[in-house]
Formats: sequence, C-alpha cells, structure tokens
Amino acid sequence: MRYGEGMYGPATSDIRLRKVTAPEIRARKAAGPKITMITAYDYTMARLVDAAGVDVILVGDSLGMIVQGEPHTLGVTLDEMCYHGRCVSRGVQRAHLVGDMPFMSYQLSPTQALESAGRLVQQGRYESVKLEGGVVVAEHVARIVAAGIPVVGHVGLTPQSVHALGGFRVQGRGEEAEIRIIADARALEEAGAFCIVLEAVPPCLAKRITEAVSVPTIGIGAGVDCDGQVLVCTDLLGLGLAPPPKFTKRFAELGAAAVAAFEAYVQEVRAGSFPGPEHTYKANSNAGGTTA
Ligand code: KIV
Repeated sequence: MRYGEGMYGPATSDIRLRKVTAPEIRARKAAGPKITMITAYDYTMARLVDAAGVDVILVGDSLGMIVQGEPHTLGVTLDEMCYHGRCVSRGVQRAHLVGDMPFMSYQLSPTQALESAGRLVQQGRYESVKLEGGVVVAEHVARIVAAGIPVVGHVGLTPQSVHALGGFRVQGRGEEAEIRIIADARALEEAGAFCIVLEAVPPCLAKRITEAVSVPTIGIGAGVDCDGQVLVCTDLLGLGLAPPPKFTKRFAELGAAAVAAFEAYVQEVRAGSFPGPEHTYKANSNAGGTTA
C-alpha cells in the first residue's frame, strides 16, 4: 500500500497530490522524471516550494549561513535542525522532507548516528536524513537504514569538512580524487542510501558516478548529467545580497524586489500616504470604538 492510499487517506494517481516517498525517489533513477530538490528553513518558504510541485524539500544545515548568518555550517545543532524541521513540516503536503544531520551529530559512531537520526524523525518530523561522507560513514548509514529511516548521502564538496578541504572548493579533480569519490558513492549505495547528493564536482565525474551507482544522484554544481538537481532557495530566488556561487541560477530577483518594496514603504510612511483610508478601520459611531 502506498502512502496516500487506503488507510492513510484518499487514493489518487495524481502525482501532484500524492505524498512523495523515499522509494519513489529511488525509482526515478530508472523511470524519471528528473528529481527536483530545494532547501527551505521555515513554514512560509516550505509552503511556496511545496506549492510549486518540488519533489524533495531539504532543511539543509546551510541554515547556518542562510538563517543564522554564520560563515559555515559547523555551529548548527540537532535542536536547531529539529526546530526548523517542525516549522517546515507544517508547510509541506506533497514533497518528501529531508533534514541534514549536523556536524558532530553522527561522526562518533553508528550508535550516535542512529540516535541523532531518530531525534530528527521524532522531534524534527523529517522523513529522511542526510549526512556527509562516503566510506567512513557507510557503517553509520547502514545502521540508520536498518532502523527504518531512509538516508540521503552527500559526497564531493562536503561543507562540514570546510577546514580540512581548505575552503569551499571544487572536489574530484584528477584521477585519484575521482576514484576516491566514486568509491564513496558506491559505499553509500551499498549501505542503503536511497539517493546521493553530489556537490561541486566536475560534470564528467558526476556522470561517471551517476552511471556507476543504482541510486539517483542529485547534483549541485555537478552539471546536467545527474538524476536530479538541488538548489538553495535563497540562491534560486536571488534573495542573497552577495553574488551567488557560479553553479547557481537566479530564477528571480526577489532580493532587489524586496529592497524596493521596503524603500517604498519607508517613503510612504514618511510622506503620510500610508496607511490610506482603504487600510484604516472605520469608527463605530454608536460605540465610539472601531469595527473590523
Ligand atoms: O545544506 C545544504 O543546503 C545542502 C545542499 C546544498 C545540498 O547540503
């Protein structure tokens, strides 16, 4: 029985109305169409992303930068991921909801990884968890999957290793590095990950990995040959004040539109033209108070 059918609610074959599941995402490798994933960190953004028919919403630990204004993801905590997961989950009807496992919430042992993943599902209302790394976390992934929690892998540029990598740099340049990342992706596949994010690797490597594994690859800065794509919502909307990374496309310029709207508000308040009569409650002449 599929989620959305029978005891879980009305059956429907309309993909726009059904809840997207991890097994469905995995099956897209063969069946298509390409998988779409966008990040969200709060209820309002989640509603908008979900309304657009996106397959997967990721509460990324990029919230360290996007929401908290930090230079990297390393300070994000499990409690914060749970809080944002709950906010986002209230705005999601259709998309599959994935939450990042923050730095140091899974590296210590498979047991620690399972405990943290369990908290994300129970307290953060996530349906899957994502963690960074390949061969070194394969055992951790297997333990989480065995407990019934779907796992998304993440290889290539792994932002939680920013200090070891010497910055947010393209990975997988050169045959040795390519072989290492392919081995990482295969280890995740064997451990039971249902899809793998490939971040900031040359497109030829992304293509090799995509052909080498039986689970979908979801690229960010990894070219067009992946089985899906992921972008950070604020990059996609043009909401950032700094220039976006090379691999991002701004599908709108909402940052500039927002600043223009705030400026117009400031001008109208100062000029006394806002609020106008249409924004103002009428007095109730009998009671001397206000009415809605
Ligand atoms: O944290 C994040 O937003 C991510 C995506 C960039 C894949 O991991």
